[in-house]
Amino acid sequence: MRARWVRWVLLVLVVAFAAAQAWRPERTNPPVNAEYALKAQYEVPQEVERILERACGDCHSNRTRWPWYSHVAPVSWMLADHVKDGRRHFNMDDFTEEMSIKDICQEIRVGSMPLKSYLLLHPEAKLSGAEIQAVCAWTREARAR
Ligand code: HEC
Repeated sequence: MRARWVRWVLLVLVVAFAAAQAWRPERTNPPVNAEYALKAQYEVPQEVERILERACGDCHSNRTRWPWYSHVAPVSWMLADHVKDGRRHFNMDDFTEEMSIKDICQEIRVGSMPLKSYLLLHPEAKLSGAEIQAVCAWTREARAR
């Protein structure tokens, strides 16, 4: 009796998982225009650029590396959302007036960025204390200019 019940639940889950694959979020990488880049507005030291590229680029640039699991629902929905939302707040390839480099320092100092879920699969994106200091020193200096 119990075994049959479990089998039904499993079947429903498998069918739901398969059906979910039909909803494929857009995984975009809009064209990059150097004119709109963060670098066009601020001088970014090479060290800082390397840190931002490594730890933030997948969600805050137009050059997202979409991993294989970004094709598998429901993870695909979450990732596409993170990238869309991330780019809206801060995009180093499309740095708009509403964005502020001050927020960059704030977010990494309190450890809100990179997102915890991202660090789980990308431990190399974790920032060291020295890297946080380097980025914050840059935002302070760049804003003072
Ligand atoms: C896995 C995706 C992801 C990564 C990696 C990531 N972010 Fe974010 N970031 C987001 C999302 C989603 C938001 C918008 C929602 C939020 O604030 O939590 C965001 C918001 C921000 C904001 C705006 C905060 C605000 O209050 O407006 C800044 C600044 C930021 N991130 C900086 C960074 C920096 C710097 C890094 C790298 C050290 C980084 N992020 C790495 C996804 C990411």
